[in-house]
Amino acid sequence: MDQRGPIILTGAAGFIGSHVAQRLVSEGRSVVGIDNFDPYYDPRLKRRNLELAGAAAGPGRFEFSQTDITDAGALDALLARVRAEGIIHLAAKAGVRPSIADPVGYARVNVLGTSILLDAARRAGCSRVVVASSSSVYGNCPKAPFAEDMDVSEPISPYAATKRACELLGFTHHKLTGMPTAMLRFFTVYGPRQRPDLAIELFMRRLAARQPISVFGRGDSSRDYTFISDIVDGVLAAYRRIPEVGYRVWNLGSDRPVTLDDMVAAIGRVAGVAPRIERGPARAGDVERTWADLSRSRAELGYSPKFEFEDGLRAQWEWIRANPA
Ligand SMILES: NC(=O)c1ccc[n+]([C@@H]2O[C@H](COP(=O)([O-])OP(=O)(O)OC[C@H]3O[C@@H](n4cnc5c(N)ncnc54)[C@H](O)[C@@H]3O)[C@@H](O)[C@H]2O)c1
Repeated sequence: MDQRGPIILTGAAGFIGSHVAQRLVSEGRSVVGIDNFDPYYDPRLKRRNLELAGAAAGPGRFEFSQTDITDAGALDALLARVRAEGIIHLAAKAGVRPSIADPVGYARVNVLGTSILLDAARRAGCSRVVVASSSSVYGNCPKAPFAEDMDVSEPISPYAATKRACELLGFTHHKLTGMPTAMLRFFTVYGPRQRPDLAIELFMRRLAARQPISVFGRGDSSRDYTFISDIVDGVLAAYRRIPEVGYRVWNLGSDRPVTLDDMVAAIGRVAGVAPRIERGPARAGDVERTWADLSRSRAELGYSPKFEFEDGLRAQWEWIRANPA
């Protein structure tokens, strides 16, 4: 019988959150998931994610609370009731381009919401908190790969700026409370249940429907795509390790950038369909490239991404085939 308190997981109905929940409960941990079913994408997909995560849980191992992280009173009541061991905070308004149209909404959920959550964690005396940041904080850093100690003072989208603000809030929270606090810079996560606004999911669904795909920019921008199960490994390693470290930022990527054109070609190979491409101008807010330096996360977390890019694509394609829109 697991004597530890449950882990609070915010954003539990989302892409990454539902995979983290599924892994935790399948390892015998108790999880209390929080999500508000933000309408950024179809809440029915989020309810399905939750069902899949909950189905892996033994009796009483997975509780879900439809709670908004900006609701301090609701968070306090929940944390007081469940006596959580720690928090994995993944809830956010995600997505770079929509943040340009809605900077205030992004700041409210990502900055205010994270601040409220950290303060609730303090009041509840949680043992640790792990927070999702993003590779987007590196902006258009001239040097690559991106290491955690590089200057990240020039984010180029409101989304990236909110994620950097979360890192700073987390640092202050740790300094003032002593609570172990980890910030995880995820590099473009893909795999089954990927968010429907992200390129691979979008392109695969277009290919499956025999529709053309829209590619913005010259096609030589690149992303360090990271398969979901590697990210889950990193999140859980950070949760275990952070009490010994105090405050730390860790990159969770693949150290294997892929250009946009190569990504499209790889999807075509996996799907067995020649993509019809419609090209458009580069979009504001999108960085030129991302590339994770994994020295710190390898050394301190034992993090070691396992998935080859095309193997991950194949897993996502199979999921899409089994789950048509
Ligand atoms: N997917 C990626 O490639 C990627 C890359 C870098 C960072 N991240 C970060 O990882 C985290 C998870 O991303 P994801 O791709 O799973 O996104 P997602 O949108 O699938 O999941 C986020 C979840 O947070 C919930 N949420 C939003 N506002 C909320 C609120 N006010 N209260 C409670 N819940 C709320 C949403 O309903 C959603 O289910 C986010 O913090 C995101 O910024 C993701």
